[in-house]
Amino acid sequence: MCSCEEPRWGWGHCAPGPILLLSLLLAAPFGLLGEETRQVTLEVIPDSMGLPQNLLHIRAVGTNSTLHYVWSSLGPPAVLLVATNTPHSNLSVNWSRLLSPEPDGALMVLPKDSIQFSSALVFTRLFEFDSTNTSDVAAEPPGKPYPPYSLAEFSWNNISDSLDPATLSATFRGHPNQDPTRAFANGSLAFRVQAFSRSGRPAQPPRLLHTMDTCQLEVALVGASPRGNRSLFGLEVATLGQGPDCPSMQEQHSIDDEYAPAVFQLDQLLWGSLPSGFVQWRPVAFSQKQGGRESALPCQASPLHPTLAYPLPQSPIVRAFFGSHNNFCAFNLTFGASTGPGYWDQHYLSWSMLLGVGTPPVDAFSPLVLGIMAVALGAPGFMLLAGGLFLLLGPKRYSEYQPIN
Ligand SMILES: *[C@@H]1O[C@H](CO)[C@@H](O)[C@H](O)[C@H]1NC(C)=O
Ligand SMILES: *[C@@H]1O[C@H](CO)[C@@H](O)[C@H](O)[C@H]1NC(C)=O
Ligand SMILES: *[C@@H]1O[C@H](CO)[C@@H](O)[C@H](O)[C@H]1NC(C)=O
Ligand SMILES: *[C@@H]1O[C@H](CO)[C@@H](O)[C@H](O)[C@H]1NC(C)=O
Ligand SMILES: *[C@@H]1O[C@H](CO)[C@@H](O)[C@H](O)[C@H]1NC(C)=O
Ligand SMILES: *[C@@H]1O[C@H](CO)[C@@H](O)[C@H](O)[C@H]1NC(C)=O
Ligand SMILES: *[C@@H]1O[C@H](CO)[C@@H](O)[C@H](O)[C@H]1NC(C)=O
Ligand SMILES: *[C@@H]1O[C@H](CO)[C@@H](O)[C@H](O)[C@H]1NC(C)=O
Repeated sequence: MCSCEEPRWGWGHCAPGPILLLSLLLAAPFGLLGEETRQVTLEVIPDSMGLPQNLLHIRAVGTNSTLHYVWSSLGPPAVLLVATNTPHSNLSVNWSRLLSPEPDGALMVLPKDSIQFSSALVFTRLFEFDSTNTSDVAAEPPGKPYPPYSLAEFSWNNISDSLDPATLSATFRGHPNQDPTRAFANGSLAFRVQAFSRSGRPAQPPRLLHTMDTCQLEVALVGASPRGNRSLFGLEVATLGQGPDCPSMQEQHSIDDEYAPAVFQLDQLLWGSLPSGFVQWRPVAFSQKQGGRESALPCQASPLHPTLAYPLPQSPIVRAFFGSHNNFCAFNLTFGASTGPGYWDQHYLSWSMLLGVGTPPVDAFSPLVLGIMAVALGAPGFMLLAGGLFLLLGPKRYSEYQPIN
């Protein structure tokens, strides 16, 4: 029997023979912690002192492991990711310490010796550039910078109001505390976080393949008044290095763009050798809610740099978990180019990424492309080509196809 939970097959309702064979060939190391099912829950941890502070705990429990994702808008929006080798690890929060000037130790995942991997991402600043006179798409910076918005100086909604246990999602929606030009009078910056109880793809591009081990973040800037006619936006992201080194940035290429129109690349940030964490995204953002080819904007990522040179807004949750001596690395994402579609069209910009621990999910060829190849080459030629391609593209493939039950 084969399982076809997701309605994503290009034809029929079940995978035909060659696909099943391929999926057997591709049964590569399955997730770091080898889990086949996880119980995924999402809970808001209330502040015991009744202050409006957002702390969201996503817990994905497998047979022998637990993944914890802790999202917060205390300080700049940030997430901790922690993987443990027991199904019984838990998150402990000391609110009075977390809200104090020295939050070290206020967040712990217990038992401490079960932790296999931990790191964090912090979204520190929103940039805006005037691209009027910039024709070079890859220019860095992509235009004349306006003063950045520090995300540590935003106020955020009560996340409980947007919590949806059915879709395992919640949205942090914020605007600057000080907004003298009223740029955000009708606008907001939103971080929509979603966890998954099974693998699949969302309906909206870029349709990143997710698993139970990952959570997705969609960042959307909606309705804020730009400061120029051709404003481009950017986001600064900080992360913790493992030891003295920064995580590495990788690009993967594919000939298949069925899930993300005209995007043949997948960018990845990897913290180190397994067991490790990863962030992945397609280098595309969208200028309309219904993302499609017409509203696709390029997304450039700068290399990662240690941030000793300049101070970053501090995240209390990162300090609470990791203490105060950490090596931060940062990179910039910039969305759009001076020509083509842009934020100026509808005052809308969205971009998505996937965060996880273990072996990153990698697109296999989409059923449509496999079908075209099968028809064009005939089954034997197709099997040869497919086998060769997968050998070429490396052994660490994660098959999106369900194993045979
Ligand atoms: C969980 O651990 C047990 C004992 O160590 C082992 O036999 C089993 O295969 C593991 N299960 C998974 C899914 O890794
Ligand atoms: C946030 O919203 C929840 C549910 O609507 C409510 O119970 C809680 O008191 C609110 N928290 C604050 C600090 O307003
Ligand atoms: C929480 O932290 C405060 C201040 O550091 C400390 O006095 C208190 O004992 C802690 N509470 C618990 C339950 O550990
Ligand atoms: C959390 O885990 C630790 C270590 O396993 C245990 O001592 C503690 O009782 C647990 N706390 C809760 C609230 O389950
Ligand atoms: C763009 O270039 C024109 C002509 O050189 C100049 O007058 C204008 O001030 C420039 N605008 C910006 C935003 O740099
Ligand atoms: C916000 O929206 C209202 C009503 O749509 C409009 O009257 C007002 O001018 C807008 N304010 C800004 C700063 O765009
Ligand atoms: C924006 O465009 C309008 C109309 O094209 C022009 O009058 C105005 O000077 C431009 N503003 C800036 C800041 O370039
Ligand atoms: C990100 O861009 C800003 C503004 O252009 C710059 O000040 C900062 O150094 C950049 N950071 C990194 C890590 O490239």
